[in-house]
Amino acid sequence: MRVLGIETSCDETAAAVVTEGGDVLSDVVRSQVALHAPYGGVVPEVAARDHARAVVPVVREALARAGVTAADLDGVAVTSRPGLAGALLVGLQTAKGLAWAAGKPLVGVDHLVGHLLAVFLRRDGAPASDERPAFPYVALLASGGHTAIYRVDGPALGAIRELGATRDDAAGEAFDKVAKLLGLGYPGGPVVDRLAATGDAAAAAEAVPAVMARKESLEFSFSGIKSAVARHVAKRGRPEGQALNDLCAAFQGAVVDALVQKTVRAARAEGIERVVLAGGVAANRGLRAKMAAACAKRGLGLFVPPFASCTDNGAMIAYAGALRLAAGERDTLDLAPETRTALPRVTRKGGGVR
Ligand code: KG4
Ligand code: ZN
Repeated sequence: MRVLGIETSCDETAAAVVTEGGDVLSDVVRSQVALHAPYGGVVPEVAARDHARAVVPVVREALARAGVTAADLDGVAVTSRPGLAGALLVGLQTAKGLAWAAGKPLVGVDHLVGHLLAVFLRRDGAPASDERPAFPYVALLASGGHTAIYRVDGPALGAIRELGATRDDAAGEAFDKVAKLLGLGYPGGPVVDRLAATGDAAAAAEAVPAVMARKESLEFSFSGIKSAVARHVAKRGRPEGQALNDLCAAFQGAVVDALVQKTVRAARAEGIERVVLAGGVAANRGLRAKMAAACAKRGLGLFVPPFASCTDNGAMIAYAGALRLAAGERDTLDLAPETRTALPRVTRKGGGVR
């Protein structure tokens, strides 16, 4: 089975052709980062308009690189939720038009399910099948829009359960906001990651509180640490040189510690021995290193997809769609964009003791 996947939920226009077995035949990602950078974050209307310009050439390129035409496809998958409504609409209308014109089945995919299954993608230089996790696994999904821990018992929506999520900002959002405060540009994750590598977290510890004091909870909160950095900058001005690197190391260390501790706690509480990383923040070197050490110490197997599978891409959408198609599922041309995920949320937004 060969399935085209289209992703336009946020600031990447992406399309890919993937088989039911997860083999990536093509994967085209066109980032809008440069377009949004002057604003320090994604501007929804700018995103939708750029998707409309880019989506047809990106889909054409994905088909061409895979050496197929629309007639060769077994179906068209598209991100239908969650995301920016106007941005999602562009991908949806494109997918519907193509599916209708080529007489192919259409399936909508929840973007978060795509991220959670991205670990199964096989890119050239493919990992051996024993490097893929068996179900069930515990997955940490940390991106610019979402941060949550899931128990994944299978690929279907009903087999995925949220164990805990952020009450406020996503982890990637915290990186982006702190980078903006420090004058480091957008997106913030990669540059903070780079500066943190030569920083001494202990030297800036007093500027950055621990993230989420209640250890036993699986919920995250990243807005407090962002405010602490803002207060520090307001009082002392923007740090430079080594002091900047130290602050980045302290901030990243606090975020990473919370992500690692809670993910490991979730795996132990569920009695599951496999941990999977997903989402753009999974590219963070500090997170990868600390998670690897924590999992090794407790005898947990850690599965980290390559970078291209962590950040937004069409391949994960095509693969999740292929599994839906293989299960006999179809959507109609009435499929509409939804800004929220279809995965049930257990964590409520907002503060208060829980
Ligand atoms: O998954 P993704 O590409 O898009 C969303 O669905 O949000 O994630 C993008 C997020 C951004 O917030 C970016 O700052 C963060 O992932 N990110 C990182 C790193 N690379 C990207 N955060 C920390 N360290 C990194 N190396
Ligand atoms: Zn994403």
